[in-house]
Amino acid sequence: MNRQMGRIYLDHNASTPLHPHVAQAMRDALEDSYGNPSSAHWAGQPARQMLERSRAQVAALLGCAPAEIVFTSGGSEANNLALKGTFFARRDRAAHIITTQVEHPSILASSRFLEREGARITYLPVDSTGLLDPDDLRRAITRDTILISIMHANNEVGTIQPIAACAWIAGEHDIPFHTDAAQSAGKIPTRVGELGVDLLSTAGHKLHAPKGVGALYVRAGIKLEPLIHGGGHEGGQRAGTESAMLAAGLGAACVLAADLTAMEGIRQLRDRFWASLQARFGKRVVLNGHPEQRLPNTLNVSFVGRVGADVLAALDGVAASTGSACHSGRIELSPVLAAMGVPPEAGMGAVRFSLGRTTRSDEISAVVEALSNVLS
Ligand SMILES: Cc1ncc(COP(=O)(O)O)c(C=O)c1O
Repeated sequence: MNRQMGRIYLDHNASTPLHPHVAQAMRDALEDSYGNPSSAHWAGQPARQMLERSRAQVAALLGCAPAEIVFTSGGSEANNLALKGTFFARRDRAAHIITTQVEHPSILASSRFLEREGARITYLPVDSTGLLDPDDLRRAITRDTILISIMHANNEVGTIQPIAACAWIAGEHDIPFHTDAAQSAGKIPTRVGELGVDLLSTAGHKLHAPKGVGALYVRAGIKLEPLIHGGGHEGGQRAGTESAMLAAGLGAACVLAADLTAMEGIRQLRDRFWASLQARFGKRVVLNGHPEQRLPNTLNVSFVGRVGADVLAALDGVAASTGSACHSGRIELSPVLAAMGVPPEAGMGAVRFSLGRTTRSDEISAVVEALSNVLS
């Protein structure tokens, strides 16, 4: 559409660019830490030190002990380990797990898998802003409940769940509580003590680390059955020779993510973006997600009566995501928008813009202009 616009990246909830400091930390690790971290000799020890320094950096972001961090291949594996690891450690096939209808597929698909293994799963509903009601959680708990898993912030609409309140309820019943913080880490505070959680997942590539690395916080005393059996790596919770290079990337990214001062500027830019869209399109544009209790970088809007994928296709050079998919000529809302009860005529026009630390104000102005051309 707007050929002069160039490339604008507004898809930071999908993935983020590698930060230069992260790339440097990984380069250093690649060159200096080729030994096996489990080897006691001179070549293994630098790798071990690198790994443990990185573990401490991740732990510092989450406010936990380094020994409570298990490196994984990313958010999906961390979520799989939290759910399946809890289920298989209990050996109770009739166990009950509570989650929500708006979780990431790595939680929902793991839940479906565990249903096939005999587990009973409750999928809590959310309201039209994507928020769950802690009273629904309270009512769903049974004597068989072995785990509650509720995401911290939603990847599509950014709604932030009342995790501390939910974890409190779990604690009253002595039920382990897991939260998927893949989207929230680096955007809002994610200290495990403040959230009151026992398990927490992060994904490196959402906070300027590379793809292929993440971490699961496992509170001391929580028992998980590993997904990958083998040597005693990662405290026996995940076998496989650790990559000091990937860990170094995640560690460096967590140091940067701890400084949330940039988020206020991102929030203001996001809010100006939304105000401009409202001014231009009035009732033809609708916000998806909670108006306030939402990630500071996320703007999911529906262009009513339009197809999100068509709007994006016309916005040449703008990287963003849609909330609907076209299957055999039929528009299907994303499960998240469907769970929020978004009407199809609005939901099919959903576009998720997710800003990042390098997003500039002139880029947002250019996108607003381009949208005006596309939608006029
Ligand atoms: C909320 C949430 N959880 C988990 C994941 C999965 O993380 P990864 O891509 O590292 O497997 C994502 C990534 O899209 C996510 O947004």
